[in-house]
Amino acid sequence: MDLLKMGTKLVQALEEKLSPKQRYWARVRAEYCDLRRDEFAEHLMFVLGGFMVQGNLNGFECCIKNMPAEGAVLEIGSFLGLSTTLIAYAMAKYGRGEPFFACDPWVFAGADRPKAGYFSTGTQEYRDWVVQSFKMNTTLFSKDHPPYAIEATSDQFFRWWSNCAVRTDLWGRDTKLGGGIGFAFIDGAHTYEAARNDFLNADRFLLPRGYLFFDDSYDDGAFAEVQRVVSEVRANSRYELIGKFPNYCFRKRQFSI
Ligand SMILES: C[S@@+](CC[C@H](N)C(=O)[O-])C[C@H]1O[C@@H](n2cnc3c(N)ncnc32)[C@H](O)[C@@H]1O
Repeated sequence: MDLLKMGTKLVQALEEKLSPKQRYWARVRAEYCDLRRDEFAEHLMFVLGGFMVQGNLNGFECCIKNMPAEGAVLEIGSFLGLSTTLIAYAMAKYGRGEPFFACDPWVFAGADRPKAGYFSTGTQEYRDWVVQSFKMNTTLFSKDHPPYAIEATSDQFFRWWSNCAVRTDLWGRDTKLGGGIGFAFIDGAHTYEAARNDFLNADRFLLPRGYLFFDDSYDDGAFAEVQRVVSEVRANSRYELIGKFPNYCFRKRQFSI
């Protein structure tokens, strides 16, 4: 039996073990597997530090290929720039020239106590390393489509966005904020209040048929507060669940009441 046949049989055998719902979501994931097989994306996943699960690549592909024209792309929570460079690359790969914004105050959860009693992520030195790494990573790997990286919490960022404020990004470029959003990747603070605010703020500007993708929202995961927000979005009739990658991805309906 050749390798392709063996692979097909293996996939069929695995699929038989899934419930109908699980099989459905597996098929949706399989529709968006181009970025996951891309050698540059694979390289970034290896060489850059961060918190990305492979399934986010399926999610980025789905959102970026299908988001409405003319809406900005927004990343909330960038850390070292792994997801940032992958979003920028996916935009280049799928021919999306919309503006790309990233916001992060670069303050870190758990910084109050040294890790293993040995290393503190609460120091200025650590923060400088993260911000410098973010700048180096995005400068090198996202030359064609660098994001406007705004140093701010998402709440502050949205206040500026709603006032169409002009802000200076990490590279000293002035940019005018505001307008419709086509896709927002939500990966900032993971408390219920913060993730809910990110949803409510993004919702105000999200275009019809725009996408929201919540990192760390997968079923039975470690982030119950993010899951709580996602369960509220699921119950919201203005949104439809598009994919479980396994993180939850929603699309705003064209017409909402
Ligand atoms: C899990 S990391 C992001 C990882 C990154 N998206 C990736 O996949 O490579 C979370 C980031 O959210 C940032 N953050 C914390 N509170 C935030 C807030 N209120 N608004 C925006 N970002 C925040 C942190 O500074 C941190 O860099």
